[in-house]
Amino acid sequence: MRNPIIVALDVPTADLALELAQALAPVVGAVKVGKELFVSAGPEIVRRLRATGVAVFLDLKFHDIPNTTAAAVAAATRLDVQMLTLHTSGGLAMMRAAEEAALATARELRREPPLVLGVTVLTSMDDADLAAVGTLGGTTTQVERLAKLADAAGLRGLVCSPQELGLLRRVLPQTLQLVTPGIRPASAAVGDQKRTMTPDAALQAGADWLVIGRPITSAPDPRAAAEEILSSLQATKPAPSLP
Ligand code: C5P
Repeated sequence: MRNPIIVALDVPTADLALELAQALAPVVGAVKVGKELFVSAGPEIVRRLRATGVAVFLDLKFHDIPNTTAAAVAAATRLDVQMLTLHTSGGLAMMRAAEEAALATARELRREPPLVLGVTVLTSMDDADLAAVGTLGGTTTQVERLAKLADAAGLRGLVCSPQELGLLRRVLPQTLQLVTPGIRPASAAVGDQKRTMTPDAALQAGADWLVIGRPITSAPDPRAAAEEILSSLQATKPAPSLP
């Protein structure tokens, strides 16, 4: 079975990120570089992580006009990341341009295109928050609407909360890859995540990839924590291959 664990390297320096990646690379499927690390350490951290051979998920959640988003996706593809994110609320044309940029740039470089993942509604927002920015109808309706739009735009994957897995597996083609944060092993502290699921339950509910941060990175022995999670996974569905 392929390793579905993506460890979130939510640390402020390149040294800390590389140290964690070195310890964890053999026991995770990929590492996630988010805004904090990218803004602190720059694209060089991605190059250094890739040089170790580990797959990289660049989680910068692009949201801009189609031309600008496509250029950012092309640049991320040249950096050789295997997954990246954008906000589906940027619309159909933006998502199409992003997917096309990933495919075209990868073709030029003769490598596999990164998986462009759509983010629907941030899990920090509830129905009232959405209404306050002019979106009526509630989060579930909006998640479904944006997920279908992402599929129509040709995206091959989405980020979603564990609670959305059931809905999205029902309404989307099974080929779409679902990446899920908010994962907590039964033994771990929940922290600021409000709606969590265990790693195995999330895979059973339809996740392809699990984004896990603090339960691994804040553990006294991160590698042992990742190994324990890995051995808790009984799902039969293997994670799809990454470029
Ligand atoms: O430490 P923890 O396991 O909560 O980390 C989860 C990671 O997933 C963090 O990098 C966080 O930014 C990200 N994330 C999330 N919830 C979302 C989207 C992304 O927790 N809805």
